[in-house]
Amino acid sequence: MTLPTPFPRWRAQVLAARSERWRPERDRAFWARHAAEYDHNMPPLPQTVAWLRARLTGLESLLDVGAGTGRLLLPLADVAARVTALDPSPHMLEQLRGKHPPGHVQVREQCLAQAAADPGLPPHDAVLVAWALAYEPELETALRRLLTLTRRDLYLLEDDGEGSPHVRLRREARDQTPPRRATLLAEALAALGLPCERCTIPEELTLTFPSTAALLEYCRLLPPEAETLRCLAPFLTPCGEGWRYRWTFAVHVLHVPLGGRA
Ligand SMILES: C[S@@+](CC[C@H](N)C(=O)[O-])C[C@H]1O[C@@H](n2cnc3c(N)ncnc32)[C@H](O)[C@@H]1O
Repeated sequence: MTLPTPFPRWRAQVLAARSERWRPERDRAFWARHAAEYDHNMPPLPQTVAWLRARLTGLESLLDVGAGTGRLLLPLADVAARVTALDPSPHMLEQLRGKHPPGHVQVREQCLAQAAADPGLPPHDAVLVAWALAYEPELETALRRLLTLTRRDLYLLEDDGEGSPHVRLRREARDQTPPRRATLLAEALAALGLPCERCTIPEELTLTFPSTAALLEYCRLLPPEAETLRCLAPFLTPCGEGWRYRWTFAVHVLHVPLGGRA
């Protein structure tokens, strides 16, 4: 049996999301509720920043599509003279602006489609897209738009189905197959004749919770509580009345070298 090309598989996966965040207004509403806690729940990615810094240093311009709160962009902002943070969520950009980005960082409240059609946004040497394509059903169109904005190097950062321990548990409970976004993206790039370099960067994440109730609320796992704690036990250390929750994960980076197009 031949598998359908990556594009319909990607589309089916995006449209299957019960949250319907592929509707732009739903995604914006999600970030309106969650932007303020994003940086607490998604701590910095030091290994990934170091990896990118080594490759981006010396470029003239850097564009982050779906920059969010600036988690990746701000620690990299000094690598280029012209830096653009693009995101359609005013609430995510409010968090970014609250960190007082340096003067050469231009913040634009736009989605990828608007940016690609905007004559006021010239291509940048490097374009970064980190976890911002997950709710984009038309992947081929999105990749082509990204290419119009990229002069030299496109970097796509994604998960590949591993998920955090609690997300794995949630998926097991619902009998869901994890989305292998990085693999699908690599297949999509190959289908467009764009071979990519694929790298895996190890990172770790530690969160602390003042109580078991706070941990369970974060994990959004159904009772029984004792069973959840047993499953998460390898990743938990008691911390006061609550828990320290630590796990390691891999950031998958797909680098598309475009060779300095005009
Ligand atoms: C999971 S967050 C990732 C933020 C940041 N890249 C990071 O790694 O911390 C996804 C971001 O993509 C943005 N986003 C969603 N759809 C987008 C689109 N069509 N174009 C650009 N950004 C989009 C969201 O508003 C959100 O800020």
